Amino acid sequence: MPDKFSIPFNQSSLLGRELEHISRTMTIGQIAGDQTFSRKCQGLLEQVLGVKRALVTTSCTHALEMCALLLEIQPGDEVIVPSFTFVSTANAFALRGARLVFADIRPDTLNLDETRLESLISPRTRAIVAMHYAGIGCEMDTILTIAARHGIPVVEDNAHGLFGKYRGRWLGTFGCLATQSFHETKNITCGEGGALLINDAALMDRAEIIREKGTDRSRFFRGQVDKYSWVDLGSSYVMSDVLAAFLYGQLEVYQQIQAQRRRVWEYYDQHLRDWAVSRGIACPTVPAHCEQSYHMYYLVMRTLEERQALISFLKSRGILSVFHYLPLHLSPMGLKLGGSTADCPVTEEKSERLVRLPFFNRLAPAEQDQVIAAVLKFQDSKPSASTVGAAHLRSV
Ligand SMILES: Cc1ncc(COP(=O)(O)O)c(C=O)c1O
Repeated sequence: MPDKFSIPFNQSSLLGRELEHISRTMTIGQIAGDQTFSRKCQGLLEQVLGVKRALVTTSCTHALEMCALLLEIQPGDEVIVPSFTFVSTANAFALRGARLVFADIRPDTLNLDETRLESLISPRTRAIVAMHYAGIGCEMDTILTIAARHGIPVVEDNAHGLFGKYRGRWLGTFGCLATQSFHETKNITCGEGGALLINDAALMDRAEIIREKGTDRSRFFRGQVDKYSWVDLGSSYVMSDVLAAFLYGQLEVYQQIQAQRRRVWEYYDQHLRDWAVSRGIACPTVPAHCEQSYHMYYLVMRTLEERQALISFLKSRGILSVFHYLPLHLSPMGLKLGGSTADCPVTEEKSERLVRLPFFNRLAPAEQDQVIAAVLKFQDSKPSASTVGAAHLRSV
């Protein structure tokens, strides 16, 4: 086995004027947050997406924590989250004392299963979190209709989905709040970072305060108050302008980035879909009414053993492929929070079979050819019923 991968799963690169902008933060002497480059990032997000307000944050995790504070989640309140998601989607609400109600996913898009959503709602439900897996939109029409019927706010965890659309409308513009990630694995990055998108104007003022340690510092800088003070709960969620400068360097070329990622995604799909389908291996499903964000390309193998064998096979050729989320309702923390009672068979089954292929902006065609050739050479394929089951999940 090679100890270094010739083709990594992810690799960051300079895609625009990132360094020039960072250098500028120093010449203008602005490296704390909420200055020239943070404002440029926020302005671009607001203008392109048409959201009422965008606030760049230290991470998507922190933007989700802001959502829990903004929605005033209290101990004992219930929040519906998919089990197949990153830990932060759930943890942000657990931090406020929420009882998590884990939802299963659709077998095709791996998004929250809207057909089972209403059965999870109780008089204590205070929020529904929809996560757009792989940047392919959840069924927002149904989710919003159900949520509106019960008067429950919807938050979009759009960590994967920046510049994806559902029925022609940008992801991140459906919920009262939505969150973005600019972690290095995302299409557009600054290493570590995120954003809160605010679609409900009533939440705008408190969002600024929560992000500024619970103070009205933003109002003070706008000259709206003559001193700033502690007025609410909050924390330090402001992104440094050094990171915002890097981020702006990528955001201002987002169309090129998205076009490049589209080429990578389509190339995988052209070369792998027939091979996969003929073997009962699944490729991503993109419904006709969704324009995806081209965040990742994955295969859902027939069994856990086959998935592990493919990862090892690619590794022996210097290629790093990775699995994804382990079901949150079966995680040690999920179980502690009552997750064992959750009924998420699709999550359990998909989670143990899914593998993500190397996918990054500068993945060269020759490298992608190597990945594809290796996958096509992979012969291990003896699925047996005994290999599929929840018992395997905790050992992966
Ligand atoms: C769906 C989802 N939500 C939230 C996060 C957290 O993002 P961050 O690392 O910016 O906090 C991730 C991270 O990959 C994610 O995949």
